[in-house]
Amino acid sequence: MAKILDGKLLASKIKTDLKTRIEKEKISCCLAVILVGGNPASRIYVNGKKNDCAEIGIKSREFELPSKTTESELLALVEALNADDNVDGILVQLPLPAHIDQEAIINAISPSKDVDAFHPINVGKIMTGNYTFLPCTPAGIIELLIENDVQIAGKECVVVGRSNIVGKPAAMLLLQQNATVTIAHSHTRNLAEVCRRADILIAAVGKAELITADMVKKGAVIIDVGVNRLPNGQLVGDVAYPEVSKIASAISPVPGGVGPMTRAILMKNTLQASTYNRK
Ligand code: GUN
Repeated sequence: MAKILDGKLLASKIKTDLKTRIEKEKISCCLAVILVGGNPASRIYVNGKKNDCAEIGIKSREFELPSKTTESELLALVEALNADDNVDGILVQLPLPAHIDQEAIINAISPSKDVDAFHPINVGKIMTGNYTFLPCTPAGIIELLIENDVQIAGKECVVVGRSNIVGKPAAMLLLQQNATVTIAHSHTRNLAEVCRRADILIAAVGKAELITADMVKKGAVIIDVGVNRLPNGQLVGDVAYPEVSKIASAISPVPGGVGPMTRAILMKNTLQASTYNRK
């Protein structure tokens, strides 16, 4: 059976280290989190972020806005938070309601407070390797691999999914770690064959149990970014865990794998924002 890449355990270690640093250096730090509309999954994520802040001594300010909020109202709030010296990080939970231009909102967040690293300036910095903030989920994946002694340099990595939040930046960080990277997506021909090339396979498409055992090379390391709910209510990833875990050498579970790591990196970025902005 595969080794379980325990993101919950590692995230808890990262948060303990951050808490110790915040206490020791008496760091004052605040994250503003904006949620528009009552998407239940988004509300759970936002609550998780708020709890992480409380746990390690980061202040949080929550803005829960109704789904009818206009784009200009949201822009006005982002601008106010940009100008507020007591706010270090700004996170607008995605997705936003369809009537709001997501890109316009992301572009309005001050790059120095953009703890998600979604602003084009920060995305560009990730491309060049000269970054202020690492994208939370991709950086969480890299840390999960490194801390579990998975060698990345020289390995064949296949990233399934090309989203701006996970797939594309994850590919970039793997490249910076000297992996050979393939990005597969909905137009990829013979996905199973491409996936079978992977020493490290990252599944980030949002399709329940898409990656089955026949798509995995024996001994591969599997990172499952998906969070999907089956009709029976069960939470599953993008990987068919019961069958793939019999073939893989290591696998991240859902829940308890990448999710907690994403949140831990967000806390790291918020602390980074405060040291960057308040020096
Ligand atoms: N929605 C899903 N993942 C994320 C994330 O990492 N950041 C934000 N802001 N919204 C998300």
